[in-house]
Amino acid sequence: MVAARRIVVLTGAGISAESGIQTFRASDGLWENHRIEDVATPEGFAANPIAVHQFYNDRRRLLLSDTIRPNPAHTALARLEHSIVDLPEHEFLLVTQNIDNLHERAGSRALVHMHGELLKMRCEQSGLSFDLREDLTLDTCCRCCRVPGNLRPDVVWFGEIPLAMSRITKALENCDLFIAIGTSGSVYPAAGFFELAREHGAHTVELNLDNTNATFDEHICGPASEVVPAYVERLLSCAS
Ligand code: APR
Repeated sequence: MVAARRIVVLTGAGISAESGIQTFRASDGLWENHRIEDVATPEGFAANPIAVHQFYNDRRRLLLSDTIRPNPAHTALARLEHSIVDLPEHEFLLVTQNIDNLHERAGSRALVHMHGELLKMRCEQSGLSFDLREDLTLDTCCRCCRVPGNLRPDVVWFGEIPLAMSRITKALENCDLFIAIGTSGSVYPAAGFFELAREHGAHTVELNLDNTNATFDEHICGPASEVVPAYVERLLSCAS
């Protein structure tokens, strides 16, 4: 265990699996029943916007249902942030690839949604984004243009550039501990974050149900709801 002062955490779909949200690449994952090209690319949206809206509307409805709530892994990361953020010379950034809002519901604040947010829509004309809790359709009127048809889910599709990359890169280059939780490491640039952090001297740790075969300094296998709270407790016992 290291006595870390500057921590970057990267989360993926695995952290929300025990909250009831499907991962992407499991045998029963989202990409088993949907083609990425159809629902997660600008070309897919141009070809069939109704189908793409339906895909995200279904996921938004699930996220807003009573059954979905943060699990102990989300809560532990919020506790970690709030425990160290006011300590001298300590820094914390949580980078999530997830488009759900479970981290913020658990209390995380130093949070970047690098793949966008399901509860937001974006105007393709102005680039402005707006909160969204209902279904998005071709008839939804844009709040800036005042006409329908200009809106898309505010998510990052394949072929698009993830959000806040300069803030993330700076934090990775400066951190002394990098923790990846519940991500298969299949999608760049997130899949390369641990290498960048390590090149700059960070200790790198993976917490995952399975070993992803990436060469982290430390691997901790198990369900996020168990291994993340336990790891956070160990970290906090070392914080000064
Ligand atoms: N606890 C910990 N890890 C888990 C759990 C769990 N309960 N359940 C699953 N996992 C792990 C799996 O072992 C796998 O390594 O979570 C990972 C999920 O991997 P993916 O489904 O590939 O999800 P993710 O890595 O977040 O995908 C990255 O791909 O399609 C895109 O934009 C999408 O942001 C997503 C990106």
